[in-house]
Amino acid sequence: MLKKIVLSGKTKLNGEIKISGAKNAALPIIVSSLLCNGTLKLSNIPHLLDITTLIYLLTHLGVKVRVDGDLSNKGNGKVMELNAESLTGYNAPYSIVSQMRASFIVLGPLLARFGKAEVSLPGGCAIGSRPVDIHLTAFEQMGVDITIEEGYVKASVKDGKLKGANIEFRQPSVGATQNIMMAACLAEGITRISNAAMEPEIIDLANCLNAMGAKVKGAGTLDIEIEGVKELHSAEYSVMGDRIEAASYMIGAIMTDGDLTLSGLDFYNTLECVIEKLKYIGADIEKISDNKIRIKRGNGKLKPIDIITEPYPGYPTDIQAQIMTLLSMIDGDSTIDETIFENRFMHVPELNRMGANISIMGNKAVIEGKENCFKNAQVMATDLRASVSLVLAGLCAENKTEIGRIYHLERGYEFLANKLNGCGANIEVMYDKNQ
Ligand code: UD1
Repeated sequence: MLKKIVLSGKTKLNGEIKISGAKNAALPIIVSSLLCNGTLKLSNIPHLLDITTLIYLLTHLGVKVRVDGDLSNKGNGKVMELNAESLTGYNAPYSIVSQMRASFIVLGPLLARFGKAEVSLPGGCAIGSRPVDIHLTAFEQMGVDITIEEGYVKASVKDGKLKGANIEFRQPSVGATQNIMMAACLAEGITRISNAAMEPEIIDLANCLNAMGAKVKGAGTLDIEIEGVKELHSAEYSVMGDRIEAASYMIGAIMTDGDLTLSGLDFYNTLECVIEKLKYIGADIEKISDNKIRIKRGNGKLKPIDIITEPYPGYPTDIQAQIMTLLSMIDGDSTIDETIFENRFMHVPELNRMGANISIMGNKAVIEGKENCFKNAQVMATDLRASVSLVLAGLCAENKTEIGRIYHLERGYEFLANKLNGCGANIEVMYDKNQ
């Protein structure tokens, strides 16, 4: 039976939230254990469905996994030990890869370890077609023969050993940067990636790889250089905080006219663009330390704004639905141009059901904002980031809001209900008898 969320009444979010480990950093870092000839011990791993799905895949490939630690709602994360010394398989099946696209990045490490790999194509997903051509073209440049058969990428290294190469991406891709970076760690010679993705999660992966003895330079810039080494050794690494979770709660504080103190993330080196936009809109953001901020509304009236989603350091697509929800309740017209994914406005009809006034023209959303627009309704979560935007809208509506299909939320937000209830919300998670 699927679960739903029932939110009761308007709430001001007041209090402190510890931001969890980042899903989008933890996933590639867990995958990087496939390269290690020893044990990779990770901490600050969030307790999320996507992490469980990935662990299922790694154990299928023969990785030995031990999980320990805090499963309470304190957000201290889990400790995980992964040992890939004796891998048993090089096939990542459709049943797992189709559930979570990020698992496609096992391709690079499997090629580095086995010289061959069979990984299911991830297929489309709700937010767009999401091809993998950038990954595959780059592997071909590293000396890999690739065929696509029955929905699988069947790849084998021509002379048994991956070769370093000069690779220029036609556009930055987070997943392709991670996939190639990992494979290049055990390739012969030097690999240079230009037009690489610059997301903070790429830096986190590079830091973890370097802790295992890799030689990665330039992560976080457009040009990454990786010198191949013979093998990677045991290491310990703590995963960075989740900037998307943090931004969602920052937006929640402004929407509910609350006062939140957030910790657990290097806010100013990961969310600079978002902080700048929220300040323009009228947020009062105080830096308490590098890893702690306090956020509330400033004294003036909140202002509308025009936003364009872009690769890092631009405004993130993963925080598009949340800011749209905030803009819906700010008097005046705002616009959002979504340039990363072609179909990432599925939350719009649901937000409109709750009282927003948003129209879509191609990849642009026009938001006619109105203070106190949100009314309670029964709505459906459509994807991960969209679902948190419905929760934020529900916190601003009178009476009961019901949100169905919240398994999306469980993929990406650790202890969401507990964390928000700790700040005054009244959220119940229950089984939905009608689904
Ligand atoms: C990652 C994030 C996701 C985020 C996205 C963009 C993880 C687990 N997921 O996804 O939350 O929304 O970055 O910031 O970290 N593309 C191609 N060909 C390719 C690869 C990508 O055309 O081979 C296109 C995609 O369709 C998309 C754009 O490039 O339009 C960016 O995708 P990419 O950066 O690869 O996103 P993901 O790594 O899948």
